[in-house]
Amino acid sequence: SERTIIKPTAGELSDELADFVVKSYNTAIVTRGRGKFTVGISGGSLPKILAAGLKNVKEKFDWDKWDVFFCDERIVPLDHEDSNYFLCQKELFDHLPIPPERIHVINSDLVEKINSAYKSGETEKGEEFAQEIVDDYEKQLVSVFGFLNPVKYPVFDLLLLGLGPDGHTCSLFPDHPLLEETLWVGYIDNSPKPPSRRITLTLPVINHAHDIVFVATGENKQDILKKILDENNDEDKPSNLPAKLVKPVKGIVYWYLDQSAAAKLNL
Ligand code: 6PG
Repeated sequence: SERTIIKPTAGELSDELADFVVKSYNTAIVTRGRGKFTVGISGGSLPKILAAGLKNVKEKFDWDKWDVFFCDERIVPLDHEDSNYFLCQKELFDHLPIPPERIHVINSDLVEKINSAYKSGETEKGEEFAQEIVDDYEKQLVSVFGFLNPVKYPVFDLLLLGLGPDGHTCSLFPDHPLLEETLWVGYIDNSPKPPSRRITLTLPVINHAHDIVFVATGENKQDILKKILDENNDEDKPSNLPAKLVKPVKGIVYWYLDQSAAAKLNL
Protein backbone atom coordinates (compact mmCIF):
# COMPACT_ATOMS: atom_id res chain seq x y z
CA SER A 1 0.00 0.00 0.00
CA GLU A 2 1.06 3.58 -0.41
CA ARG A 3 0.56 7.12 0.76
CA THR A 4 0.64 10.06 -1.61
CA ILE A 5 1.77 13.48 -0.50
CA ILE A 6 1.18 16.26 -3.02
CA LYS A 7 2.49 19.80 -2.69
CA PRO A 8 1.75 22.73 -5.00
CA THR A 9 5.36 23.83 -5.38
CA ALA A 10 8.78 22.23 -5.42
CA GLY A 11 9.81 24.34 -2.42
CA GLU A 12 6.96 23.07 -0.26
CA LEU A 13 7.70 19.53 -1.39
CA SER A 14 11.33 19.95 -0.30
CA ASP A 15 10.29 21.04 3.20
CA GLU A 16 7.77 18.22 3.53
CA LEU A 17 10.36 15.71 2.39
CA ALA A 18 12.90 17.08 4.88
CA ASP A 19 10.34 16.65 7.67
CA PHE A 20 9.94 13.04 6.65
CA VAL A 21 13.72 12.54 6.78
CA VAL A 22 13.75 13.99 10.31
CA LYS A 23 11.01 11.57 11.34
CA SER A 24 12.76 8.62 9.74
CA TYR A 25 16.02 9.63 11.47
CA ASN A 26 14.36 9.93 14.88
CA THR A 27 12.67 6.58 14.47
CA ALA A 28 16.00 4.94 13.65
CA ILE A 29 18.02 6.62 16.39
CA VAL A 30 15.47 7.01 19.18
CA THR A 31 12.72 4.43 18.67
CA ARG A 32 14.89 1.65 17.27
CA GLY A 33 17.82 2.75 19.43
CA ARG A 34 20.25 2.48 16.57
CA GLY A 35 23.60 4.19 16.60
CA LYS A 36 23.36 5.12 12.95
CA PHE A 37 21.00 6.28 10.28
CA THR A 38 21.39 4.36 7.03
CA VAL A 39 20.20 6.14 3.91
CA GLY A 40 20.21 5.36 0.19
CA ILE A 41 20.12 8.31 -2.20
CA SER A 42 19.30 8.36 -5.91
CA GLY A 43 20.53 10.61 -8.70
CA GLY A 44 18.41 12.62 -11.12
CA SER A 45 16.40 15.51 -9.73
CA LEU A 46 16.27 14.13 -6.18
CA PRO A 47 19.47 15.50 -4.61
CA LYS A 48 18.50 19.09 -5.40
CA ILE A 49 14.95 18.72 -4.02
CA LEU A 50 16.31 17.01 -0.92
CA ALA A 51 19.03 19.61 -0.36
CA ALA A 52 16.60 22.51 -0.52
CA GLY A 53 14.66 21.03 2.40
CA LEU A 54 17.51 19.61 4.49
CA LYS A 55 19.36 22.90 4.66
CA ASN A 56 16.49 24.28 6.80
CA VAL A 57 16.57 21.44 9.33
CA LYS A 58 20.33 20.87 9.59
CA GLU A 59 20.37 21.16 13.38
CA LYS A 60 17.89 18.28 13.79
CA PHE A 61 20.54 15.68 12.98
CA ASP A 62 23.72 14.39 14.46
CA TRP A 63 25.41 14.11 11.07
CA ASP A 64 28.06 11.74 12.43
CA LYS A 65 25.31 9.14 12.63
CA TRP A 66 24.54 9.16 8.91
CA ASP A 67 25.73 6.35 6.63
CA VAL A 68 25.01 7.16 3.01
CA PHE A 69 24.88 4.72 0.13
CA PHE A 70 23.89 5.28 -3.49
CA CYS A 71 20.73 3.52 -4.65
CA ASP A 72 22.45 3.39 -8.00
CA GLU A 73 25.69 4.67 -9.41
CA ARG A 74 27.10 5.06 -12.87
CA ILE A 75 30.45 3.44 -13.67
CA VAL A 76 32.27 6.71 -14.29
CA PRO A 77 34.99 8.50 -12.30
CA LEU A 78 33.76 10.17 -9.11
CA ASP A 79 34.47 13.63 -10.53
CA HIS A 80 32.63 12.94 -13.80
CA GLU A 81 29.49 14.93 -14.46
CA ASP A 82 27.48 11.71 -14.88
CA SER A 83 28.48 10.45 -11.43
CA ASN A 84 25.68 10.39 -8.88
CA TYR A 85 28.30 10.92 -6.19
CA PHE A 86 29.52 14.05 -7.98
CA LEU A 87 25.97 15.34 -8.27
CA CYS A 88 25.23 14.65 -4.60
CA GLN A 89 28.52 16.23 -3.57
CA LYS A 90 27.62 19.47 -5.35
CA GLU A 91 24.02 19.53 -4.18
CA LEU A 92 24.25 17.95 -0.73
CA PHE A 93 27.54 16.85 0.74
CA ASP A 94 29.29 20.19 0.23
CA HIS A 95 26.59 21.77 2.40
CA LEU A 96 26.07 19.13 5.07
CA PRO A 97 28.60 17.94 7.64
CA ILE A 98 28.39 14.22 6.88
CA PRO A 99 31.80 12.65 7.63
CA PRO A 100 33.30 11.76 4.21
CA GLU A 101 34.13 8.21 5.31
CA ARG A 102 30.42 7.63 5.94
CA ILE A 103 29.59 8.31 2.30
CA HIS A 104 30.00 5.00 0.55
CA VAL A 105 31.21 5.41 -3.00
CA ILE A 106 32.04 2.88 -5.68
CA ASN A 107 35.68 1.76 -5.99
CA SER A 108 37.34 4.21 -8.36
CA ASP A 109 40.28 1.93 -9.31
CA LEU A 110 37.77 -0.59 -10.54
CA VAL A 111 35.86 2.08 -12.45
CA GLU A 112 39.02 2.78 -14.42
CA LYS A 113 39.73 -0.90 -14.98
CA ILE A 114 36.18 -1.61 -16.17
CA ASN A 115 36.08 1.30 -18.58
CA SER A 116 39.50 0.70 -20.07
CA ALA A 117 38.73 -3.01 -20.54
CA TYR A 118 35.52 -2.24 -22.43
CA LYS A 119 37.28 0.50 -24.39
CA SER A 120 39.90 -1.91 -25.68
CA GLY A 121 37.22 -4.44 -26.61
CA GLU A 122 37.98 -6.80 -23.72
CA THR A 123 34.36 -7.23 -22.72
CA GLU A 124 34.95 -10.35 -20.65
CA LYS A 125 37.64 -8.66 -18.62
CA GLY A 126 35.34 -5.68 -18.20
CA GLU A 127 32.64 -7.97 -16.85
CA GLU A 128 35.09 -9.55 -14.41
CA PHE A 129 36.04 -6.15 -13.03
CA ALA A 130 32.36 -5.24 -12.93
CA GLN A 131 31.78 -8.26 -10.69
CA GLU A 132 34.57 -6.96 -8.47
CA ILE A 133 32.98 -3.54 -8.18
CA VAL A 134 29.67 -5.17 -7.24
CA ASP A 135 31.45 -7.33 -4.63
CA ASP A 136 33.23 -4.26 -3.30
CA TYR A 137 29.99 -2.34 -2.89
CA GLU A 138 28.39 -5.34 -1.21
CA LYS A 139 31.33 -5.48 1.19
CA GLN A 140 30.76 -1.84 2.05
CA LEU A 141 27.13 -2.67 2.76
CA VAL A 142 28.20 -5.61 4.93
CA SER A 143 30.59 -3.36 6.85
CA VAL A 144 27.65 -1.21 7.88
CA PHE A 145 24.76 -3.69 8.06
CA GLY A 146 26.48 -7.02 8.40
CA PHE A 147 26.39 -7.62 12.09
CA LEU A 148 23.36 -5.57 12.89
CA ASN A 149 20.73 -7.59 11.15
CA PRO A 150 20.23 -11.29 11.41
CA VAL A 151 18.08 -11.14 8.27
CA LYS A 152 19.18 -11.90 4.77
CA TYR A 153 19.05 -8.40 3.36
CA PRO A 154 20.37 -5.10 4.62
CA VAL A 155 17.58 -3.05 6.16
CA PHE A 156 18.03 0.60 5.26
CA ASP A 157 16.37 3.12 7.54
CA LEU A 158 15.47 5.22 4.52
CA LEU A 159 15.65 4.88 0.75
CA LEU A 160 15.02 7.94 -1.39
CA LEU A 161 14.05 6.91 -4.88
CA GLY A 162 13.44 8.67 -8.18
CA LEU A 163 11.06 7.66 -10.95
CA GLY A 164 11.87 7.62 -14.65
CA PRO A 165 9.15 8.35 -17.23
CA ASP A 166 9.47 4.68 -18.33
CA GLY A 167 8.83 3.45 -14.78
CA HIS A 168 12.45 2.76 -13.84
CA THR A 169 13.81 3.40 -10.41
CA CYS A 170 17.41 3.07 -9.26
CA SER A 171 19.02 1.43 -12.30
CA LEU A 172 16.25 -1.14 -12.56
CA PHE A 173 14.62 -0.83 -15.97
CA PRO A 174 11.38 -2.32 -17.33
CA ASP A 175 11.64 -5.94 -18.49
CA HIS A 176 15.32 -6.10 -17.60
CA PRO A 177 16.71 -9.40 -16.20
CA LEU A 178 18.16 -7.43 -13.25
CA LEU A 179 14.60 -7.28 -11.89
CA GLU A 180 15.04 -10.96 -10.93
CA GLU A 181 18.34 -10.41 -9.11
CA THR A 182 18.30 -11.74 -5.55
CA LEU A 183 21.79 -10.62 -4.49
CA TRP A 184 22.23 -7.20 -2.88
CA VAL A 185 23.83 -5.28 -5.72
CA GLY A 186 23.37 -5.71 -9.46
CA TYR A 187 25.35 -4.63 -12.51
CA ILE A 188 23.91 -3.45 -15.80
CA ASP A 189 25.94 -2.73 -18.95
CA ASN A 190 23.05 -1.88 -21.25
CA SER A 191 21.10 0.79 -19.42
CA PRO A 192 18.59 2.42 -21.77
CA LYS A 193 19.30 5.69 -19.96
CA PRO A 194 22.94 6.68 -20.49
CA PRO A 195 25.55 6.05 -19.28
CA SER A 196 25.08 2.37 -20.02
CA ARG A 197 27.21 0.84 -17.24
CA ARG A 198 25.88 1.15 -13.70
CA ILE A 199 25.43 -0.65 -10.42
CA THR A 200 22.20 -0.63 -8.48
CA LEU A 201 20.58 -1.87 -5.31
CA THR A 202 18.25 -4.73 -6.17
CA LEU A 203 14.50 -5.04 -5.60
CA PRO A 204 14.76 -7.29 -2.52
CA VAL A 205 17.12 -4.79 -0.87
CA ILE A 206 14.76 -1.93 -1.67
CA ASN A 207 11.77 -3.87 -0.38
CA HIS A 208 13.43 -4.64 2.95
CA ALA A 209 13.97 -0.97 3.86
CA HIS A 210 12.04 0.57 6.76
CA ASP A 211 11.05 3.73 4.90
CA ILE A 212 10.73 3.91 1.12
CA VAL A 213 10.08 7.27 -0.46
CA PHE A 214 9.63 8.12 -4.11
CA VAL A 215 10.04 11.72 -5.18
CA ALA A 216 8.62 12.67 -8.57
CA THR A 217 8.07 16.13 -9.95
CA GLY A 218 7.11 17.70 -13.26
CA GLU A 219 4.80 17.06 -16.14
CA ASN A 220 6.80 14.24 -17.70
CA LYS A 221 5.90 11.97 -14.75
CA GLN A 222 2.10 12.32 -15.13
CA ASP A 223 1.45 9.30 -17.34
CA ILE A 224 3.76 6.89 -15.57
CA LEU A 225 2.37 7.92 -12.18
CA LYS A 226 -1.10 7.11 -13.42
CA LYS A 227 0.05 3.64 -14.50
CA ILE A 228 1.75 3.04 -11.18
CA LEU A 229 -0.75 4.50 -8.74
CA ASP A 230 -4.13 4.29 -10.49
CA GLU A 231 -4.04 1.15 -12.58
CA ASN A 232 -4.63 -2.19 -10.94
CA ASN A 233 -2.61 -5.12 -12.03
CA ASP A 234 -3.59 -8.61 -12.73
CA GLU A 235 -2.89 -10.57 -9.53
CA ASP A 236 -1.07 -13.36 -11.39
CA LYS A 237 0.82 -11.16 -13.78
CA PRO A 238 3.35 -8.96 -12.05
CA SER A 239 3.94 -5.54 -13.53
CA ASN A 240 7.00 -4.98 -15.69
CA LEU A 241 7.40 -1.51 -14.22
CA PRO A 242 10.23 -1.51 -11.66
CA ALA A 243 8.72 1.28 -9.56
CA LYS A 244 5.52 -0.75 -9.32
CA LEU A 245 7.50 -3.74 -8.06
CA VAL A 246 8.60 -1.74 -5.05
CA LYS A 247 6.49 -3.41 -2.37
CA PRO A 248 7.96 -3.19 1.09
CA VAL A 249 8.11 -6.36 3.17
CA LYS A 250 6.56 -4.28 5.93
CA GLY A 251 5.32 -0.72 5.83
CA ILE A 252 4.15 1.43 2.99
CA VAL A 253 5.61 3.36 0.08
CA TYR A 254 5.47 7.15 0.35
CA TRP A 255 5.04 9.12 -2.87
CA TYR A 256 6.13 12.75 -2.66
CA LEU A 257 4.79 14.58 -5.71
CA ASP A 258 4.38 18.11 -6.90
CA GLN A 259 1.06 19.18 -8.34
CA SER A 260 2.36 19.05 -11.88
CA ALA A 261 3.41 15.38 -11.62
CA ALA A 262 0.16 14.46 -9.86
CA ALA A 263 -2.14 16.29 -12.31
CA LYS A 264 -3.60 13.15 -13.95
CA LEU A 265 -4.13 11.05 -10.82
CA ASN A 266 -7.60 10.14 -9.53
CA LEU A 267 -7.51 11.31 -5.98
C1 6PG B 1 20.06 7.51 -12.05
C2 6PG B 1 18.98 7.84 -11.08
C3 6PG B 1 17.63 7.46 -11.63
C4 6PG B 1 16.69 8.58 -11.35
C5 6PG B 1 15.48 8.54 -12.25
C6 6PG B 1 14.62 9.78 -12.12
O1 6PG B 1 21.15 7.32 -11.62
O2 6PG B 1 19.81 7.51 -13.26
O3 6PG B 1 19.20 7.37 -9.81
O4 6PG B 1 17.16 6.23 -11.21
O5 6PG B 1 16.31 8.59 -10.01
O6 6PG B 1 15.92 8.44 -13.57
O7 6PG B 1 15.35 10.87 -12.58
P1 6PG B 1 14.74 12.34 -12.49
O8 6PG B 1 14.48 12.59 -11.05
O9 6PG B 1 15.84 13.23 -13.02
O10 6PG B 1 13.55 12.36 -13.34
